[in-house]
Amino acid sequence: MISDQRGARVQGMFDRIARHYRLMNTLMTAGQDRRWRRHLVDRAALPRNGRLLDLATGTGDIAREALRARPDLRVTGADFSTGMMQAGRRMSDAASMHWVSADAMHLPFADNCFDAVASGYLVRNVIDIPQTLYEQMRVLRPGGRLVILESSPPPPSLLRPFIELHLRLVIPLMGRVIAGPAGASAYRYLPRTTQAFHTPQELTGLMQAAGLLEVSWRRFMFGTMAVHEGVKPSP
Ligand SMILES: C[S@@+](CC[C@H](N)C(=O)[O-])C[C@H]1O[C@@H](n2cnc3c(N)ncnc32)[C@H](O)[C@@H]1O
Repeated sequence: MISDQRGARVQGMFDRIARHYRLMNTLMTAGQDRRWRRHLVDRAALPRNGRLLDLATGTGDIAREALRARPDLRVTGADFSTGMMQAGRRMSDAASMHWVSADAMHLPFADNCFDAVASGYLVRNVIDIPQTLYEQMRVLRPGGRLVILESSPPPPSLLRPFIELHLRLVIPLMGRVIAGPAGASAYRYLPRTTQAFHTPQELTGLMQAAGLLEVSWRRFMFGTMAVHEGVKPSP
């Protein structure tokens, strides 16, 4: 099912840290991660009874925020880590969404079948961003919105040395303490890939190249998180 070696490594890593994933998010972001997910859902601007795809749903946290804010929505969460989805499915509200095992590079959905596609912390993990954007565009209906929450390399500022210290030392240490050796390696991977990832301007360029219109973005947490949005053109 997984088309590349990096995908297989990423899948194994998330399977191993699934049990501790939500606690680590809360600790690393001082509880701010929920706010960004809520903003993401808001920017998806879904119609009444709209269909949302939460791609790379993991433990289902974006889907969960969407359904809290908008119980009318029909929400599908898709991910290739069954460990992450199993952890999410143990939660009491899991039955209100539809869970699908899928690789973001080859989605098992028909063309134009969602009103919005959201992803949180997916694009930094894939080997081919244009391919996953292509797939997201394919399943999104014309006029629908594609929204992305992703970490960003810290921008130049007086705070940057402290942010880098947090990324390089504090987060891996937290990972080791909370999730053991698997956590130490996963939470070294997170800062490494964040620092090497595209700037928000570069990700904007990739989204425009995929055909999205009205692409814009907003930064959070001293510039280390960004929410991007764009619209699929109508024919
Ligand atoms: C950091 S977690 C994010 C989970 C959730 N979106 C959130 O906001 O907390 C990243 C998720 O992306 C998934 N993922 C990474 N690459 C993927 C791919 N190619 N196809 C499907 N899921 C993928 C991982 O399995 C993992 O569950």
